[in-house]
Amino acid sequence: MNNKYILRIFRGCPGCQYWEEFELEYNPDANVISALMEIQKNPVNRLGLKTTPVAWEQGCLEEVCGSCSMLVNGVPRQACTALIRDYTHGGTGTITLAPLTKFRLIRDLQVDRTSMFEALKKVRAWISASSGDSKEFGVKVSPELQESLYPLATCMTCGCCSESCPQVSEKSSFMGPAAMSQVRLFNSNPSGEIEKSVRLRSVLGEDGIAACGNAQNCARVCPKKIPLIESIPFVNREATKQALKDFFSLPDTK
Ligand code: SF4
Ligand code: SF4
Ligand code: FES
Repeated sequence: MNNKYILRIFRGCPGCQYWEEFELEYNPDANVISALMEIQKNPVNRLGLKTTPVAWEQGCLEEVCGSCSMLVNGVPRQACTALIRDYTHGGTGTITLAPLTKFRLIRDLQVDRTSMFEALKKVRAWISASSGDSKEFGVKVSPELQESLYPLATCMTCGCCSESCPQVSEKSSFMGPAAMSQVRLFNSNPSGEIEKSVRLRSVLGEDGIAACGNAQNCARVCPKKIPLIESIPFVNREATKQALKDFFSLPDTK
């Protein structure tokens, strides 16, 4: 007979959340998403009562889009790469699932990460085209620089860093570490030079770099191992230089 384990899920809508348990047959190859899909096929809880299917978000199923982020046993991570076998003891035990808490709850395990995308807009986390009809290649980027910037480019806006950051809360407007790291990425790329000052000014407010308390939780939970603890002081230094330049009305330099 196969072993069984319990998925204990914190579900519901804003203001009416509750725990509900489901018993599932152990499958050594299952991940949290496939376990949720099993429940979706036949949503009957551990008490034998028919219930509503659990809501969650998913996209790539290979830890690239960040949409399936949730708390697995209290730790923020992607459900698609959370293997059931890593959370059970020989296929038995209980795994808890809960939605991220730093984002607006939609329902069950689904949250609205709009605040992260708004932060990316605010810091201009892109490279503007210099001319719509240019036939020329862009600025050359050395292989060494490409290699050093690549880890920063792997950010999937998953929200795990914000979830773990004590400075991201309802009481604070801090944009969070991911947006700060994107400032470093785009300001370090020669093609992004033209908007360097604009990006730095965008993090000078109370929602910007000064809100970071340097607790470094963010770097510890980032699934992509993005060097956030290097990005944050980098942006801090650059933003301070920009503030001084602005104070003394010096021209923006590259
Ligand atoms: S270093 Fe700490 S305070 Fe700063 S962004 Fe990371 S978790 Fe938040
Ligand atoms: S920096 Fe890491 S933890 Fe934060 S959103 Fe990007 S990938 Fe996720
Ligand atoms: S579904 Fe895209 S990261 Fe999990």
